[in-house]
Amino acid sequence: MNYRCRSAFKLLEIDEKHHILKPGFIVIDCGASPGSWTQIAVKKVNADGSDNNSVKGKVISIDRQLLYPIEGAIILGNTDFTEASSQDKVAKELGGAKVDCVLSDMAPNATGIPDLDHENIIKLCYSVLKFALKHSNVGGSVLVKLWQCGDTKQLISDMEKFYRSVKAIKPKSSRSDSAEIFLLGREFKGLKVT
Ligand SMILES: C[S@@+](CC[C@H](N)C(=O)[O-])C[C@H]1O[C@@H](n2cnc3c(N)ncnc32)[C@H](O)[C@@H]1O
Repeated sequence: MNYRCRSAFKLLEIDEKHHILKPGFIVIDCGASPGSWTQIAVKKVNADGSDNNSVKGKVISIDRQLLYPIEGAIILGNTDFTEASSQDKVAKELGGAKVDCVLSDMAPNATGIPDLDHENIIKLCYSVLKFALKHSNVGGSVLVKLWQCGDTKQLISDMEKFYRSVKAIKPKSSRSDSAEIFLLGREFKGLKVT
């Protein structure tokens, strides 16, 4: 299928069930290297304009590692998503437009110390969540990967403040012996400006 890595099947499975990627959508793919989620997102939202009968979407992909070009996607390689300057770059690419779906398959380098690894991945999730709250369309969605840990409940409860539905998902294509799960927040409620 020419996907750059097996993670592709996790997103395909999630999207088949929850339909988070639609033609015309604006998508941010955080932790995108080597690029299989971006490959899928480009096709699903028609970011490459290959489907003349559908509206064209946009995919902006970020990774702190090198990310080789993918036709139809805006690629920000060597870019740490957690840095304010990186998120400014993404915002610049958005040009004021709001995002329909924020994806994160980001994972920190495992230290082998479970508490530290969990703390690090939770930090990544909150960084994605904060970005999503600032830049999403009302009704938008966010999908984040994490390793199940003591902080999972708190993250779900924080997401529930801003999304009408929050689901924990374990795709069949994710190894059953791994603690990996995905949290999907749907129908962003919007932020009240006071
Ligand atoms: C499991 S891989 C992603 C695979 C990707 N979804 C795909 O389908 O090809 C996790 C990625 O997260 C990236 N990552 C981890 N921390 C990051 C950060 N702070 N900013 C940007 N990317 C990060 C890593 O460099 C790595 O490439």
